[in-house]
Amino acid sequence: MRIAMIGTGYVGLVSGACFSELGHSVACVDVDEDKVAALTARHMPIYEPGLDAMVAENSDRGRLSFTTDLASAVSGAEAVFIAVGTPSRAEDGDADLSHVYAAAGEVAAALDGATLVVTKSTVPVGTGGEIARIIAKARPDADFDIASNPEFLREGSAIKDFMHPDRVVIGAASERARQIMRDIYKPLEALGTPLFFTTLETAELIKYAANAFLATKITFINEIADLCEAVGANVEDVATGIGLDNRIGPRFLAAGPGFGGSCFPKDTLALLAMGRHHGVEQNIVEAVVTVNDRRKRAMAGRVVAACGGSVGGMTIAILGLTFKPDTDDMRDSPAIDIVGGLQAAGAVVRAFDPEGMEEAGKCLNDVVYCGDAYEAMDGADALVIVTEWDQFRGLDLDRVKSLLREPVFVDFRNVYAPDDMAKAGFRYHCIGRD
Ligand code: UDX
Repeated sequence: MRIAMIGTGYVGLVSGACFSELGHSVACVDVDEDKVAALTARHMPIYEPGLDAMVAENSDRGRLSFTTDLASAVSGAEAVFIAVGTPSRAEDGDADLSHVYAAAGEVAAALDGATLVVTKSTVPVGTGGEIARIIAKARPDADFDIASNPEFLREGSAIKDFMHPDRVVIGAASERARQIMRDIYKPLEALGTPLFFTTLETAELIKYAANAFLATKITFINEIADLCEAVGANVEDVATGIGLDNRIGPRFLAAGPGFGGSCFPKDTLALLAMGRHHGVEQNIVEAVVTVNDRRKRAMAGRVVAACGGSVGGMTIAILGLTFKPDTDDMRDSPAIDIVGGLQAAGAVVRAFDPEGMEEAGKCLNDVVYCGDAYEAMDGADALVIVTEWDQFRGLDLDRVKSLLREPVFVDFRNVYAPDDMAKAGFRYHCIGRD
């Protein structure tokens, strides 16, 4: 199948590369000439494990290319995926669809022969129908169909999530659209992946409902963690105990400093906006957004308490800045609130992140960026783990203790065991455990 992928952000680039890996011929389109040139030269604009190798291999095989020429990519394609960004609008949290609709207009102008136009971007319910209206108005002569194909990719495991999904969700209005999508995903279906067909509107809502539910699950266990601290229970054991119920399941029950990322914050706000637009309250998701934002802001206060009530004039070492491991993405990372809160309380912040420091430099000020974890903690009054990168799981605790001015260790991801840390002589603080 010949595919045009419009947009080479996290979703478009990973999806385009994976479609070419499945054997399709993919032309990825972006307006950013520098980005297209870098991709053509096999230089990745994002950190995503395995992506560089997949892009290089499929580019070498001639199945994957990058271009700024949308018209040529679309005119040669049987399916065009719109994967441009849908950021939150600052004023109301609604999804900004300007890039989606602009792409739809350009696609319309370039249509040449029967073409399926697919939204891969996360878009509010009704967007697919609006895209159909935009195209039909611009090109009454065009022979096209519309489909919705939301992605469920997690940064850091996006390729695995694409190639081994729990399901592929497809919203399609016509049998022809369904058949083309079945042909595109045939390699995955052959390996046992269920293709779930539904309407455009339902597929669009499934994406938001999935992310909002996952964000709710995380926020729930975070609040249970606070209760565990008050009653002397262990949140990890609570998560295990409830997760063994197959109606609940064990995943996304890891208590932490609050969720961040490019999706949960954006998608929960967009769901609330959808509720407002349609006059349907979304009280649970409203609470999730409020509780999560409050939690991220409260984390700095936990460090201050661990340091005896004040961090003025102290140096605090932060390990991990990205919103999760195995990504360079800082969007809505808890580290942004934690670093800002500590600096506002008078601390000097030193930090190390394996991949995120370049991105962090764009959103954090006055941070001392260090070459590795031990350099960051050298002479610090406390050490704080904010992101659970694997390389922070095996720290030499004797060396940590010798480098810290005070043996204060705050672990916001429960990487270490309280008993071990007490034995090692640390004043250890974590989430939801004694
Ligand atoms: C998420 C969804 O998982 C994915 O399906 C969707 O397509 C995009 O949004 P992503 O944001 O990349 O993916 O990362 P994810 O692994 O879901 O983590 C999101 C946030 O939740 C991170 O800040 C992470 O630290 C936090 N989290 C996740 C927890 O605090 N506890 C958990 O148990 C899981």
